[in-house]
Amino acid sequence: FQPKLLKGKKILITAGATLEMIDPVRAITNLSSGKMGYAIAQAAYEMGADVTLVSGATALNPPNGVRNISATSAATMYQNVMQNIASQDIFIGVAAVADYSPAQTQQQKIKKSEQSLSLELSRNKDIIAEVASLPSPPFCVGFAAETENLLEYAEAKRLKKKLPLIVANLTSDAMGNDNNKVFLLDSNGTHPLEQAAKIEIARSLLTHVASML
Ligand code: C5P
Repeated sequence: FQPKLLKGKKILITAGATLEMIDPVRAITNLSSGKMGYAIAQAAYEMGADVTLVSGATALNPPNGVRNISATSAATMYQNVMQNIASQDIFIGVAAVADYSPAQTQQQKIKKSEQSLSLELSRNKDIIAEVASLPSPPFCVGFAAETENLLEYAEAKRLKKKLPLIVANLTSDAMGNDNNKVFLLDSNGTHPLEQAAKIEIARSLLTHVASML
């Protein structure tokens, strides 16, 4: 990779799962490990970028040289992204952000009874869609993790969220693994990348982004 490719560029990256509290001890989350987003943060730093990482729930240590902000819920992640977005050149949304969160977080632990229990969920804001619709947005890159119809669903998301570029991957290839197999989708079509370590995928992705700036 070219070490100075992103020199002078500011990049904001979201990574990991969000955690939506139901009560003080229970939460709704997902199986995103944060490895892909952290690899992109490391690769961007190695290419000379000024990197801010907004991290959801993950067991990883943030890469050296990167400013790390932790934000476990989708709402906190949204706030932290919006507070830091103004001066960014590139935004990459790798986080697996919850689409819904409990309508109310109970202050005390919910006690069980013999009845069934239903939980009301409210829609969360779509962080990347909001960033992409700012008056002068940074270059926005989304991720689409799917279990079926990968390219079709990913392209639909790219268009709906108004993103110049989206990275499509199957959950079975991506989640928790050190390797990944991805397709880059932009207005020129589909660019498959060979299966590789996430750090290699990150370098290829950032090289593609730099060519589109
Ligand atoms: O719609 P879906 O969640 O599959 O889209 C995935 C892409 O959108 C990822 O880039 C993810 O980080 C971003 N996203 C977001 N805020 C949400 C949901 C998804 O930024 N509430």
